[in-house]
Amino acid sequence: FLPQVLQGKKLLITAGPTQEPIDPVRYISNHSSGKMGYALASAAQQLGAKVTLVSGPTQLEKPINCEHIAVKSAEQMLDACQQHAQQIDIFIACAAVADYKLTEVAEQKIKKTQHQLSLQLTKNPDILATIAQQINKPFCVGFAAETQDVEHYAKDKMQRKNLDMIVANDVSNQAIGFNSDQNAVAVYWQNGQQNFPITDKQSLAIELLQLIAKRHAQTN
Ligand code: PMT
Repeated sequence: FLPQVLQGKKLLITAGPTQEPIDPVRYISNHSSGKMGYALASAAQQLGAKVTLVSGPTQLEKPINCEHIAVKSAEQMLDACQQHAQQIDIFIACAAVADYKLTEVAEQKIKKTQHQLSLQLTKNPDILATIAQQINKPFCVGFAAETQDVEHYAKDKMQRKNLDMIVANDVSNQAIGFNSDQNAVAVYWQNGQQNFPITDKQSLAIELLQLIAKRHAQTN
């Protein structure tokens, strides 16, 4: 039995990678499995929340009792989030969104006629920053996947993107972070921080959401 600390709250959670098409058969993506985001969705539901999970392509089973919206690209993930972001209490951005997309997607499969091939990329919209800028913004929690100066870059992202909290993930350690079953993180907020030592993503999700629920209650 878990305390229903999110009873009556509406949560929007992003998870997994995005895929940015190059041509009809190829794409750019990353190693996110969706495990951390799906664990958060499932844990939030167990803690009493009504959950919408916007997910990039993963191999995972849909968490039960959550609204599940499947997307591929960052643009599609942004659209799905914006359609829900007015009616939610808490937004958690756990997805590993591709920072860049192809400037132009080829209509036909690219042939290997050239010895070298350059792809031109354009910055994707930042989903988290967009939601965090809206009027009546929800309580916004970001993740920061970093390989160096983790605390510095995480805090910088929290400031720049106007976030209430940031979960810093040191992804230089392959035992935690991308595609692992376990994770260890440090969470930062205005004038506070808490470290969460290595554990499975399901247990970590429960602990993170209990902290998020507490901070949300204190700031609202
Ligand atoms: O999926 P798993 O295999 O379980 O791995 C979990 C994880 C490592 C992917 C996860 O714990 C994690 O760290 N997620 C964030 C990954 C990331 O892309 O971080 P970032 O530092 O590049 O982005 C910062 C924040 O902005 C994130 O909350 C991200 O969702 C958000 N973002 C980034 C770019 C963009 N265009 N839109 C966004 O919303």
